[in-house]
Amino acid sequence: MMNIKAENLSKNYKKKNSPDVEVLKNIQIEIPSGLKIALTGPSGVGKSTLIHILGLMDRPTSGKVYIDDIDCFSENDKYLCDMRKKNIGFVFQFHYLMPDFNVLENILIPVWDDKNAKFEQAQDILKKVGLLNRQNHFPNELSGGEQQRAALARALINDPKIIFADEPTGNLDRTAGLEIEKLLFTNAQEAGSTLILVTHNEYLAAKADKIIKMTND
Ligand SMILES: Nc1ncnc2c1ncn2[C@@H]1O[C@H](COP(=O)(O)OP(=O)(O)OP(=O)(O)O)[C@@H](O)[C@H]1O
Ligand SMILES: [Mg+2]
Repeated sequence: MMNIKAENLSKNYKKKNSPDVEVLKNIQIEIPSGLKIALTGPSGVGKSTLIHILGLMDRPTSGKVYIDDIDCFSENDKYLCDMRKKNIGFVFQFHYLMPDFNVLENILIPVWDDKNAKFEQAQDILKKVGLLNRQNHFPNELSGGEQQRAALARALINDPKIIFADEPTGNLDRTAGLEIEKLLFTNAQEAGSTLILVTHNEYLAAKADKIIKMTND
């Protein structure tokens, strides 16, 4: 079980000689374990900021995030890092694969200390995303859609109980993008994991258990 709860979450970006950018203001969210959420809203509203905080990659200016009743940001960075490693998968809008590592190695990066034990699982995941035959290729030898699928595979290697995906369709065409998002849904369904997907795809948003719409007011 991995229930997520955010209380009074605010985030301001500060920069010297510039006014603060007030992005999130007193956000309240409860995401019960296993729920599939579609997160939507206009560009700049704070979707990425919000999921970076919920995914423990960035600290809020104020407010709390509880995962299974633990107040995560009252803990130190090592706790946050361990929590991410153990329980959280993240798919970015642009894949951020390592160019000098082949597909298989890229997927093993989050579990590098344990990579030999994870080898078979990596192959299973590659099969699931349809990239088994490309495991020895480097990212620049893959199409955009294949790169996104590799990034998705990398997010699944630690069997995350919570998966965040930030418009994981990158700049793919509609069909390739839909394919990636469908894979995310199917995987969350099968694994019983929580999915928080930033998407503009109405078809998929409609398939989510809940839609969270962020607005600019
Ligand atoms: N490091 C930063 N410093 C200052 N402002 C920032 C920083 N990161 C993000 N912002 C601002 O915070 C606001 C929210 O950004 P965010 O990336 O969360 O939006 P978004 O909803 O994900 O948008 P998009 O749909 O375009 O990805 C934007 O106005 C952005 O310019
Ligand atoms: Mg964004």
